[in-house]
Amino acid sequence: MRKKIIAGNWKMNTTYEEAIALVNDITIQENQLHLSENKIVVIAPPFPYLAHCSTLLKDKAHFYIAAQNCSEHSKGAYTGEVSAAMLASIQANYIIVGHSERRTYFQETDAVILQKIKQALQQNMTPIFCCGEPLHIRENNTHFEFIQAQLQNCIFHLSDDEIKKIVIAYEPIWAIGTGKTATPQQAQEVHCYIRNEIKNNFGAAISASISILYGGSVNATNAAELFDTNDIDGGLVGGASLNATDFTTIIKAMQA
Ligand code: 13P
Repeated sequence: MRKKIIAGNWKMNTTYEEAIALVNDITIQENQLHLSENKIVVIAPPFPYLAHCSTLLKDKAHFYIAAQNCSEHSKGAYTGEVSAAMLASIQANYIIVGHSERRTYFQETDAVILQKIKQALQQNMTPIFCCGEPLHIRENNTHFEFIQAQLQNCIFHLSDDEIKKIVIAYEPIWAIGTGKTATPQQAQEVHCYIRNEIKNNFGAAISASISILYGGSVNATNAAELFDTNDIDGGLVGGASLNATDFTTIIKAMQA
């Protein structure tokens, strides 16, 4: 049975005090969230707060910490960069890689993203690999080809053992931060496509075991119907993860 995951990507938001308060406000509701081995919460605060948030979540079962990015290099003279080894050393468990904001604003290529995935895996951390098409591609109706290329150039270079350890997030760029969510049918169609592509390349068992999250304007109102589909295994939530009430409503909307 594959894991159901609700991940909150805080992006470049919150002060230190706000971050600690937000973690506390989310975890205080722990008992009502019905978390288990198969239904987990991942929180991705900004780098400076990761170590403290990791300590706060240490004794909370089924809560995990993610970094929003890591370097494609393992160590050395890369001023301002953060390595996967550093993140592992503060007990971060997941790393978001290839987010569309990193691809667009920081010119991250599929080749660089693949290196980041390898760095995360070498440190026994789980990469959350993001893919998804911009608006003009969706309007041209070439989104399947676009996503296929993202998969082909990146995660299809992984071995069977490596791909088993990743999580995928489908985030159509036109739905990110726009309030314009993909419909459950649109999202399910792409998730099913991605799972099928994995099946063609790595076989049915691996394809059935990989969690594929949906991201793009997930909120407390639309989460339940998105999650009530065959191939959506949770959400990668931006804006709504900054509000503890909304985020916990989204967590509750995910059936284990
Ligand atoms: P929003 O939920 O704010 O649309 O952001 C989605 C996202 O980019 C998560 O990584």
